[in-house]
Amino acid sequence: MGDAKTVKSEFRRPDGVKVQFRRMKFDFEDGFARYWHGGSPFKSLFWAQLSTAFEPGEKFFIDSARALKDQIDDPALLEEISAFCKQEGHHTMQHLKFDRMNAAMGIDTEGCRRRYARVLDRVRENLDPMEMLAVTSALEHFTAGLADRFFKHPEIGAGADPRVNALWLWHAAEEAEHKATCYDVYRKAHGSELTRIGVLGPAWFLIIGIAVLNTFVLLYKDKKLWNLKDVAGGLWYLFGWNGFISGMLPSFISYLNPRFHPWKEDNSAEIAHWQKDNERYILNLDKLEPIVPSTPPSAPSIHPAPAI
Ligand SMILES: [Fe+2]
Ligand SMILES: [Fe+2]
Repeated sequence: MGDAKTVKSEFRRPDGVKVQFRRMKFDFEDGFARYWHGGSPFKSLFWAQLSTAFEPGEKFFIDSARALKDQIDDPALLEEISAFCKQEGHHTMQHLKFDRMNAAMGIDTEGCRRRYARVLDRVRENLDPMEMLAVTSALEHFTAGLADRFFKHPEIGAGADPRVNALWLWHAAEEAEHKATCYDVYRKAHGSELTRIGVLGPAWFLIIGIAVLNTFVLLYKDKKLWNLKDVAGGLWYLFGWNGFISGMLPSFISYLNPRFHPWKEDNSAEIAHWQKDNERYILNLDKLEPIVPSTPPSAPSIHPAPAI
């Protein structure tokens, strides 16, 4: 965690962090195994279903940010909103490719997407734009939490096909990079603190609930539900001691603090490392501004950035 005492501005980024659009080309389009994650049906199908969340989910995020854009007059934050929308749009495009390849192998990606879309449509119908942005901020905190898990626990991707893992690592890095955009828009638009905190539990509960339901439906369709060793291993992977999702509990709790800000957890060094290791997938590398983290990953700290 960074040293909050050094932070004077409410809105801040570590030095060297800028939300940037990267055009990507991955190798997974040449094909991958149905159970690409170490041969585990549970883990592979968990990631297959999670990928289907992004088309409806990221559209929801983009619409939420744009709906309150008029209330923002800071040029830096406006520029960041625009880069955020581009990043999310490209995430959806790349995940749809991954989904199509899973669908071609007979995995019911459409059914999974429908379950996510149905819930998000219901949320849209019942919430006003500010409440929608609060939900978006809560879910962006979820994706940033997943990114943080990826960075700090490489064993999450252990055994996975590196060509597919590259997609998830890219998405994780950019989720970390834009993790404060919607939060700052919500704050700047004077969203209620009670609502921000109040929607966190339901938003996380719904996304985790649908993810688990989808995974079990896919396991059932693949006749792998009674492969108890794999199912137990998969559940432990997600919810066991310091598991992929259970390990996000401290992150969940931190969001409840009125003094919370996403960049109190500084991932800038991890983002820079990811980019250096994955340059071959980035088509517009020459157009990117360099990421210059001010601290090594082991000793992150936060620095004041211009108020936005
Ligand atoms: Fe995304
Ligand atoms: Fe995001």
